Amino acid sequence: MTTILTPELTAFWDEPDSFTLDAYRRHGGYQALAKALAMDPDAIIAAVKDSGLRGRGGAGFPTGTKWSFIPQGDSKPHYLVVNADESEPGTCKDIPLMMGNPQALIEGAIIASYAIRARNAFIYVRGEVLHVIRRLHHAVAEAYQAGYLGTNILGSGFDLDIVVHAGAGAYECGEETALLESLEGYRGQPRLKPPFPALEGLYACPTVVNNVESIASVPFIVARGAGDFAALGTEKSKGFGIFSLSGHVVTPGQYEAPLGVTLRQLLDLAGGVRAGHRLKFWTPGGSSTPMFTDEHLDVPLDFEGVGAAGSMLGTRALQIFDDTVCVLRATLRWTEFYEHESCGKCTPCREGTYWMAQVLEDLEHGRGSEADLDKLLDVCDNIIGRAFCPFGDGAISPVVSAIQYFRDEFIEHLKHGGCPFDPAASTLFAGDGS
Ligand SMILES: Cc1cc2nc3c(=O)[nH]c(=O)nc-3n(C[C@H](O)[C@H](O)[C@H](O)COP(=O)(O)O)c2cc1C
Ligand code: SF4
Repeated sequence: MTTILTPELTAFWDEPDSFTLDAYRRHGGYQALAKALAMDPDAIIAAVKDSGLRGRGGAGFPTGTKWSFIPQGDSKPHYLVVNADESEPGTCKDIPLMMGNPQALIEGAIIASYAIRARNAFIYVRGEVLHVIRRLHHAVAEAYQAGYLGTNILGSGFDLDIVVHAGAGAYECGEETALLESLEGYRGQPRLKPPFPALEGLYACPTVVNNVESIASVPFIVARGAGDFAALGTEKSKGFGIFSLSGHVVTPGQYEAPLGVTLRQLLDLAGGVRAGHRLKFWTPGGSSTPMFTDEHLDVPLDFEGVGAAGSMLGTRALQIFDDTVCVLRATLRWTEFYEHESCGKCTPCREGTYWMAQVLEDLEHGRGSEADLDKLLDVCDNIIGRAFCPFGDGAISPVVSAIQYFRDEFIEHLKHGGCPFDPAASTLFAGDGS
C-alpha cells in the first residue's frame, strides 16, 4: 500500500534536526548545487523543461518554460522571487516544507537563480508565520556560513544573496503581481498583465516568481536527472507533489505521491474518513477550487483529471468534510474569508464577495427564499471573468459548486427555518465525551 508514496521533499521531516544543514547534507543535500554550477545555465533550464515540472502554486504553468522567458544578454538585473505566502484555506504544504526541510528550498533557489542569471533572490513569506520566518533566517544564515550563498559560491564565480521578506499577512499578496507590489513596499494589489513578471517584474526588471514547492523540487531534477522526475506522475502532469489531507480524516497530514494518485488511495493510507461517518464533500486544491463529492473518489489528482471532472488541482489541499458538516455553513465561512481578503481594487470582487456573504448568512439562518439561490448564482456570474485578478474566480468556486451538488440542502434550511445541522457534531472531539 505505501508503495504509492514517493517521499522526497518530505523524506526525513520526522528526524529531530531535519531543518538543519547537517541533516540536509546527510541526506545528499547540496550535491545538486555542485553539479548545477558545473553546468551551463541554459542546460539547467532545459533539464527543468524536460522534467515536465509544472508550478506547484496552483496554476500549473511549466516551470522551465517560465524560466526561459527571462531575456538573456540584457543589461537589467534579474530576480528570483519565491512565493511563500501560502494563505488559502486548506493549503498547508509550503509551511511544513519550510519548517521540515528549508535547505531544499534554498538549494533550489540558488540553482534557479544561477539558471536565470539572477544575483538576488527573495523569499516572500506570509507575515503571520513567525516560526517559519525564524527558521528560514536560520537556514539562510547556515547556507551563507557554508559558502552556498554570498560571493563566489563553491568557487564557481557565481554570487547570490537571498533575502527573507515577511509580508503583512494578506491572501492577495500570494497573487504574483500583488506580491511584487508588496515586496516593493506598496499596497498589495495586483498589476495589469501584460507585461508579465518575466519581462517587467520586481523593480520593472525580469523576474521569475515560483512557488516554494516548485523551487524545492529543482535539486531532485538536477541531482537525479529530468528523466527520473518525468517517470513519475501522468502524461502531462509529471513528478511528485505534496498532498495535504485535513479535516475529517483519521490521520491528517502531508502525503507525497506522484501526481495522478486518487483521493481513494490517499484516504486508504490516511485511515479513511473518521469512524462512523461517510465522505460528504472535499476540495481537491483548496477553497478556490470547486468542491467534489464522494462521486469523485477515483478522479486522478493531476491537472487534467481534476480539470475534466470540473475542478482544479490547485495546491492539492484536500479538505475532507464528513456527513456532519453543513455545506452551506462551510461555504459561508469560505465566502467570509474572501470578503475579508478582497483587496478592493475591482468592483465585481469587492462588492460581489460582500453580497455573497450577506445572502449566504441569510440562507444559513433560514431567511430568504429559493430565488436567493439564483441571486447568488447571478452574483457569481457577474464576478467570473470580470474580476481584475483570479481571486474573484476563486471566490465563487465554493458557492457555485455547493449549489450544484447540494441545492436540496440549501432549500432544507429554508423549510427548516434555519440550519438543520448541529455544528458541535462536526467538531473533531464530538462523541468522545470531552
Ligand atoms: C489570490 C491568489 C493567491 C495566491 N497565493 C499563492 C501562494 O500563496 N503561493 C503561491 O505559490 N502561489 C499563489 N498564487 C499563484 C501565484 O499568482 C503564481 O501563479 C505562483 O506563485 C507561480 O508559481 P508556480 O509557477 O511555481 O506555481 C496565488 C494566486 C492568487 C490569484
Ligand atoms: S479580484 Fe479584484 S478586488 Fe478581488 S483581489 Fe483581485 S483585484 Fe482585488
